[in-house]
Amino acid sequence: MSDNDYTGVYQRALNDPDGFWAEAADDIHWDERWDRVLDGSRPPFYRWFTGGALNTCYNALDVHVEQGNGGRPALIYDSPVTDSVKVFTYLELRDAVATFAGALRNHGVGVGDRVIVYMPMVPEAVVAMLACARLGAVHSVVFGGFAANELATRIDDARPRVIVSASCGIEVNRVIEYKPLLDEAVRLAQHKPAACLVLQRPQARASMVAGRDVDWNEAVAAAGPVPCVSVAATDPLYILYTSGTTGQPKGIVRDNGGHAVALKWSMKNVYGVDAGEVYWAASDVGWVVGHSYIVYGPLLKGCTTVLYEGKPVGTPDPGAFWRVVSQHGVSVLFTAPTAFRAIKKEDPAGQYVEKYDLSHFRTLFLAGERCDPDTLVWAQDLLGVPVIDHWWQTETGWAIAANCMGIEPLPVKPGSPTRAVPGYDVRVLDDEGRDLPPGGMGSITVKLPLPPGCLPTLWNNEEGYRKAYLEQHPGYYLTADAGYCDEDGYLWIMGRIDDVINVAGHRLSTGAMEEVLASHPAVAECAVLGVADALKGQLPLGLIVVKAGVETTEEVLAPELVSLMREKIGPVADFKQALLVKRLPKTRSGKILRGTVRSMADGTPYKPPATIDDPAILDEIREDLGRLGYPKG
Ligand code: COA
Ligand code: AMP
Repeated sequence: MSDNDYTGVYQRALNDPDGFWAEAADDIHWDERWDRVLDGSRPPFYRWFTGGALNTCYNALDVHVEQGNGGRPALIYDSPVTDSVKVFTYLELRDAVATFAGALRNHGVGVGDRVIVYMPMVPEAVVAMLACARLGAVHSVVFGGFAANELATRIDDARPRVIVSASCGIEVNRVIEYKPLLDEAVRLAQHKPAACLVLQRPQARASMVAGRDVDWNEAVAAAGPVPCVSVAATDPLYILYTSGTTGQPKGIVRDNGGHAVALKWSMKNVYGVDAGEVYWAASDVGWVVGHSYIVYGPLLKGCTTVLYEGKPVGTPDPGAFWRVVSQHGVSVLFTAPTAFRAIKKEDPAGQYVEKYDLSHFRTLFLAGERCDPDTLVWAQDLLGVPVIDHWWQTETGWAIAANCMGIEPLPVKPGSPTRAVPGYDVRVLDDEGRDLPPGGMGSITVKLPLPPGCLPTLWNNEEGYRKAYLEQHPGYYLTADAGYCDEDGYLWIMGRIDDVINVAGHRLSTGAMEEVLASHPAVAECAVLGVADALKGQLPLGLIVVKAGVETTEEVLAPELVSLMREKIGPVADFKQALLVKRLPKTRSGKILRGTVRSMADGTPYKPPATIDDPAILDEIREDLGRLGYPKG
C-alpha cells in the first residue's frame, strides 16, 4: 500500500478511521488534543474528535501569520461589476476579521450565539463569517437571491443575535437592494435580532432603522481586535439552510473540528493544491461550495482564494473566467457545469480562451449538479487540462465521490464523478436495503459513520435528522440521490429520489414551490416539476388547476404566479413557467404523476403506472405542454 495509490488510501480510511483521521488532524492546530477520534458512543449519531478544542479562524488565518506567511495574499476580491480588484494579505485579513469580531462582541455576540449573514459577494461577507468563527459564534449565511420570506424563515429557526447585511448586491448591471428585503424579513419574523450591521455600498445607500441598524464602518471604528476563542471540536461552526421536501428548509450543522480536518485534507488530496497556490471556487458564499471552497478550505490550507463578484458571461463577456484565471495565476478552478454551458453557448469555439495566458492553470473541478459528458469533453478539449466531475451535497460539506488529484488521478469517465473519496463507504441499496451488484440502479447511501466534516445533525432538530437521513436504511446515511456503481467502482449519479431539483447548480424544493402556488386564492391544485434545460440543467414548471368558479386565464394567472414565487422564494427559484391544466394526472390513490409529466415534457420515453386513474388526462397534458413548446426535442 502506498501513499499515492487510491485503493490503498481508500482501504486505510475504511479499515482504520481512527488512525487515518488522527493523522490528518495533526495538520490542524489544536488548543487541546481530542480524547477520541471517532466517538461512536451514541449510534447512529457519531461525533469526531470529542474532547478536542480549537478555533477554526485561528487555523484559517492566525496560524499562517504566526508561521511567517502574513504577507501572502489570502483573498483576492475580483469584481467586474464594480470594476475593482482588491487583495488582502493573511495579515490584513486576520486584522480585519479580529476587529469585526470585536464589533460583533460589542453587540453582544459570544460563543454559541447565531449571526445571520445576508450579503452579496463582497470581502466583508468572508470577514463576517470568519469573525463569527473567531468568537465561537455560529454563522448562518443566507444566499442573496432568496426573498424576504425565506430569510424570515431562517431568522426564526436560527434566532440570531445579530444580522450582518449590505445595502445592495449587483447582478451584472442591475443594483439589487438588500436592505428592504432585510427590513421586510425582520418584520415578518417572530424573532427579532438585537442589531443589524449594514455595509453601505456606494451603488445604493440603505436607510437605517434607528436603535437597531448600525453602519458597518461605524461598528468597526468603535471596535478593537479580539483574540480567537477556543471551542469544542464538536461545537457548531455554522448552520447552512438547504432545500428539502417541504417549504421548511433544513438547517445543516457543521462542527469545528471534523470540518477543519476534512477540508484541509481535501485541499491536497482531492484538489491536489498546496499552500501558496491560487484556488478559485466560482460560486457564492451563500452555498456550501462557497463555505467550503471560497472560505474555509483554501484558507485552512494557506492558499490564496478568489472571491469573484461576477458571472461567467456578461461581466463583460464569455472570457471572464479566463481573464480571472490568467490575471491572478489560478491553479485550480471549481465551478458548476451550468457556468460552462453558459460560456459554451456564447463562445462555442472557445475563442476567448486564446486571449489569455492560462499556463498556471492545472485542473478544473465541476460539481453542484450532474455534469453532462458534452460539457465535460468541451471544457477538456478547450482547456487541455483534466476536468474533474465530483459529487457532494450541502450535508456532507465536501466531496463524496471524486477523482482525487492529490492521491492518484484515475481515468476520467465522462458522466461519472469517479469513485468514493477515502472516508466514505458508499453503498447502492435496493428498496429492502440490500447491496446491489455493479450496474444495479438504487438508492445511493453512505454506510455510517460519515467521515469528519459531514453534518452531525440538523439545527435544533435531531429527530428531523434521523427521519430524513438515517431512518430509511438503518446504519446508512441516505444521500437522496439515485444511481449505480459500475464494475470499476465508478459511481453514476442519475438524479434525486425526493422533491429536490437543481436549477443552474442551485438546489430548490418543488414542495416549497407548490406551497407558494397553492397559497394563491385562484389555485385549487398544483404540481411543480423540474424539466430538462440545456443551459441550467433543470427548470421548474408549474401545472395549475384553477378553483371551480374562478374566472381567470393563463395570460392573467401565470404572470401573477411568477411574481408570487419571486416574492416568496426569490429570483433564484427561476420560476417562469406556469401552465393551466384541467386536471392533474394521478394514480388511483391520488399520487400526482410528476415523473410521467416530466418525461412527457423532456420528450423521453415513459410508461404511466398501471395504477393511473384516467389515462385520458395524459392527452390533455400533452396538449398543454405543447403550448410552452414541450417537448423541446
Ligand atoms: N442576488 C439577487 N439575485 C440573484 C442572485 C443574488 N445573489 N443570484 C442570482 N440572482 C437572480 C438572477 O439575477 C436571476 O434573476 P432574473 O430572473 O431576474 O434574471 C435569477 O436569480 C436566476 O439566477 P441564475 O439561475 O443564476 O441565472 P442567471 O441567468 O443570472 O445566470 C448562470 C446563469 C449559469 C450564469 C449562473 O447561474 C451561474 O454562474 N451559475 C454557476 C455557478 C454557481 O453559482 N453555482 C452554484 C453552486 S456551485
Ligand atoms: P447541494 O446540496 O446544493 O450541493 O446539492 C446537492 C445535490 O446536487 C446532490 O444531492 C445531487 O443531486 C446534485 N449534485 C451535486 N454534484 C453532483 C454531481 N457531480 N453529479 C450529479 N449530481 C450532483
